Amino acid sequence: MKRIFSAALLIVLAVAFAGCKADYSAPETREFSAPIMGWSSWNHFHTEISEDVIVGQADALLSLGLADAGYVYVNIDDGFTDGRGEDGRIRIDTTKFPNGMKAVADSIHARGLKAGMYSDAGDNTCASRDVKPYGLNVGLYGHELEDCKMMFDEWGYDFFKVDNCGGRHLDLNEKEQFTKIAEALAACDNKNINFNVCRWVFPGTWVIDIADSWRTTHDIWVNWDQLKTIIKENMYLVAYTGGGHYNDMDMLEIGMGFKPEEERTHMACWCIQSSPLVVGCDLNNMPDYSIEFLKNEDLIAMDQDRLGIAAPVVQREGEVYVMAKDMERYYGPKRAVVVANLGDETASIDVSLEALGFKGKVNVYDCFAHSEVTDLAIGDHFTLNVPAHDSYAFFVTGKRIERTRYQGEEAFLNAYTEINDQDYPVYRRPYDIPSPRYWESPSADLGLYATLVGGWEDNWLEWRNVYSFKGGEYVLTFNLACADERDMTVSVNGELVDKFEAITTGGDLDWKELSVKVKLNKGWNVVRLENPAAPMPSIDYMSVKIFK
Ligand code: GAL
Repeated sequence: MKRIFSAALLIVLAVAFAGCKADYSAPETREFSAPIMGWSSWNHFHTEISEDVIVGQADALLSLGLADAGYVYVNIDDGFTDGRGEDGRIRIDTTKFPNGMKAVADSIHARGLKAGMYSDAGDNTCASRDVKPYGLNVGLYGHELEDCKMMFDEWGYDFFKVDNCGGRHLDLNEKEQFTKIAEALAACDNKNINFNVCRWVFPGTWVIDIADSWRTTHDIWVNWDQLKTIIKENMYLVAYTGGGHYNDMDMLEIGMGFKPEEERTHMACWCIQSSPLVVGCDLNNMPDYSIEFLKNEDLIAMDQDRLGIAAPVVQREGEVYVMAKDMERYYGPKRAVVVANLGDETASIDVSLEALGFKGKVNVYDCFAHSEVTDLAIGDHFTLNVPAHDSYAFFVTGKRIERTRYQGEEAFLNAYTEINDQDYPVYRRPYDIPSPRYWESPSADLGLYATLVGGWEDNWLEWRNVYSFKGGEYVLTFNLACADERDMTVSVNGELVDKFEAITTGGDLDWKELSVKVKLNKGWNVVRLENPAAPMPSIDYMSVKIFK
């Protein structure tokens, strides 16, 4: 939390030129903190937790070498409470935690680790639903400040996951209630509280300003389709991770029953997306291969990389996805690459060096074998056979080329929220919150596009990471579609450069290109498309080419 508020000033300054509330265009200037790594009690133990269980798992983090690998948070999830006393204080279940919760935090800290707490934005926690009603009346609602002060100043915890089961049944406004909780945390003397919002979908861009990480999907469990859903969902939320704030793909289910190839995909995809890495299994009871995956230092380096960015899809063949992101330095020689086969058959893919951002000779290092790959015939591409559900993870190094294509599905949609998403009917609020969308269509490049942008003031689209090696004159070409006549303005670095009027392409999915000549600065540029008055066309991609 300290970071959020101290970084705020920098952000305000840096953004003045971009004309938006959060600046993603010059990430090196921001204070950095990596996604958290640790263990959480929920996925294996559910509410069957106790001081012995928690401290036992803390010891296992140490003895297995996981703490040395970076897994230092020991997060207590739902199930430690026993209602709220008449004095307003949460009661602890003393059959499980006879020495109270401060003693547990002290034991964790004495081991050189960090301690995590759990609550809910509403009145009850989620466990109040289906197990012994541990979670009744122990949520934060109406007790935000007292509970935060107790957990973080009195007990000394370092991390806070805030769920929303109670918030949902009270029909609270998520933005208001989670912001109130962030303010209560900011009022604590403890200035090192890492705050995680658990709303099971991407709640809205407001969350970036108040939390260190936020869940983007419903709970993970050992089920390939669920794992695949989480991976695919997060591939298209990359615009919202950045500046030390992360999409949280949920706990790692590694060690809980997935096949080795699925665990490879699980770990590789969490790491390339810079998700928090929080192990969910019983650490004293998992296969050796799972321990090796968790301790994979190359993948951990990919996750914890100081740029803290998430990787867009840069190439796709059917169910094989290629994701790539810079590491260590923007447009430096090294990139992280994951090639994930989410399909049920072995598939072959020609991975294009151009799509990866390179030209000429490259070195490919395999993050699972921990060695250079020497048997790939690399021309302008290399061919991989990827077994079903399996992944490759690489560091590729070489000479970089300027990026020429930015997809609609990796753009920052300022009004984006999944709170009313029809795909999540269980969690749908009883009223409609309008939102732009990333939609799938085989007609779009890489299969997705951005749509429902425009129509009100906050509903704009931005690429915040448009990079030019030298600066100068460029042609931006937008691949767009709309059946009726629509308008759209194009701004570069806060300056209006063009207004497209009465665009029509003949159909909602009939894509046509429209170009505009612009001047780009050397380094980072922000391109914004907007129309506050009415819906804009759907946007498939923007190509960025030097004007010749
Ligand atoms: C869910 C949450 C889980 C876990 C559980 C506790 O809502 O997504 O990760 O915290 O509540 O009851």
